[in-house]
Amino acid sequence: MSRLTDLPAWQALEDHYYEVQGLHLRDLFAADPQRGERLSAEGAGLYLDYSKHRVTDETLRRLLALADEAGVARKRDAMFAGEKINVTEGRAVLHTALRAPRDAVIEVDGKNVVPDVHEVLERMSDFAERVRGGEWLGFTGQPIKNIVNIGIGGSDLGPVMAYEALRPYAQRDLTVRFVSNIDGTDLTEKVRDLDPAQTLFIVSSKTFTTQETMTNAHSARAWLLSSLKDEAAIARHFVAVSTNAEAVQKFGIDTANMFGFWDWVGGRYSMDSAIGLSVMVAVGTEHFRELLAGFHDMDEHFRTAPAGENLPMLMGLLGIWYNNFFGAETLAVLPYDQSLAYFPAYLQQLDMESNGKHVTLGGAEVDYQTGPVVWGQPGTNGQHAFYQLIHQGTKLIPCDFIGFCRSHHPLPPHHDLLMANVFAQTEALAFGKTLEQVLEGGVAPDIAPHRVFEGNRPTSTLLADQLTPRILGALIALYEHKVFVQGAVWDINSFDQWGVELGKVLAGKIAPELQAEAEPELTHDSSTNALIRRYRARR
Ligand code: F6P
Repeated sequence: MSRLTDLPAWQALEDHYYEVQGLHLRDLFAADPQRGERLSAEGAGLYLDYSKHRVTDETLRRLLALADEAGVARKRDAMFAGEKINVTEGRAVLHTALRAPRDAVIEVDGKNVVPDVHEVLERMSDFAERVRGGEWLGFTGQPIKNIVNIGIGGSDLGPVMAYEALRPYAQRDLTVRFVSNIDGTDLTEKVRDLDPAQTLFIVSSKTFTTQETMTNAHSARAWLLSSLKDEAAIARHFVAVSTNAEAVQKFGIDTANMFGFWDWVGGRYSMDSAIGLSVMVAVGTEHFRELLAGFHDMDEHFRTAPAGENLPMLMGLLGIWYNNFFGAETLAVLPYDQSLAYFPAYLQQLDMESNGKHVTLGGAEVDYQTGPVVWGQPGTNGQHAFYQLIHQGTKLIPCDFIGFCRSHHPLPPHHDLLMANVFAQTEALAFGKTLEQVLEGGVAPDIAPHRVFEGNRPTSTLLADQLTPRILGALIALYEHKVFVQGAVWDINSFDQWGVELGKVLAGKIAPELQAEAEPELTHDSSTNALIRRYRARR
């Protein structure tokens, strides 16, 4: 493909940007009374209102032309077909196979992977139901009451996010916790009130070599053995989720209690693989299968819906419009649901580890912006923290608002008030308040400028009926595919993560320098050397 910025559609968008950058959403809405309904799309149970974006019909046409010229549909089909699109690691990218129905055929190197996926799901299900039903007994014969998932990155963020999101579906007499940080505080605090005899650790690590996870797993092992005092207890209190059977065995976990997945599942795309075991134990097989069905609904929507009605395509392209033409650097994700408290953190890895890249698939330095900084927290809390800057600051911050028509809790007034804030915020961000309106309200002229809201702040609103397992699956897959669309346009590899390597290697070199008895010979830069010396002197 020719360079992205040389594509006719890219250049047409550059010209178009200068024509429309000054348009205000007030005028766009005034000119088209149907805009609010017209610029919407629906798929897999999610309704997307994208009318409050700074786009005209022509903008959308040109963005869709960009997707076309960049070959997004072709690349999408290559991913679904199991082609090795992760070129730097020579791997297929098939998280979509993890939620494919039993009779689907998806081949990697000539082998249909779907039966293997379902075989693992069945083993997970058997295990999860035994734990939930009190049949899986700990070493002293007591049923398991506490599940502790040990993992980090994709082996933590997806499970903890989904567990929190699906608490209304969880078996409430099970305590489920997640330990990720190598900071010993994390493990210490998470196990301090647990009875080892009733605690099961799920060590989740694709590689089973990650420093944080292995350190936490060894400390958890020591914590357990300090109470149960018999190595034989490990088999009853530790199971593993990994692709590395050898390392699992070496740790002392019986590989009969290991749940596998495959190198064609990226860490940040793995929560619907065996990495979701803690979620399955918490919510049960049926709900977990519903979650997978929701992912699959969105896969099908992404694969088959026309580009102009395709949610991941639209959201991906709108993101590119601000990122590459307006110069916006960030995207705020604002779920109006306490259960989605971890969703922004989950998306940070999904988006930023995928699209934080500086070279094209062919290895050439890009001459355009790639992935945005993703951030956010649940509304309404964010409103009392950082929304001031979104409303009246000098930066353009596109926002995704996520809300649900029905809640799970029995406090009806809360939900209407919560949702009133969703609709109020997106209205205020789009339309603002002019100086004239402020003065009409009787505000003194010297104060009035401070009370002006420029508006024209772009937002998407995603609305679904209720946060069910199925809707959660669709929502996650929506963002997975949105990230894919953007990576495809930017011509980067969204599926490797070499950027996390250098720090890991240096930490491996520095750790023994911190631990050495004798003063080590330090060969870092003068700043790093000074910091290490100060740490050693004062620890
Ligand atoms: O942060 C780097 C990373 O490799 C992620 O991609 C991955 O999700 C995480 O570390 C954990 O890796 P593992 O599952 O192999 O422990």
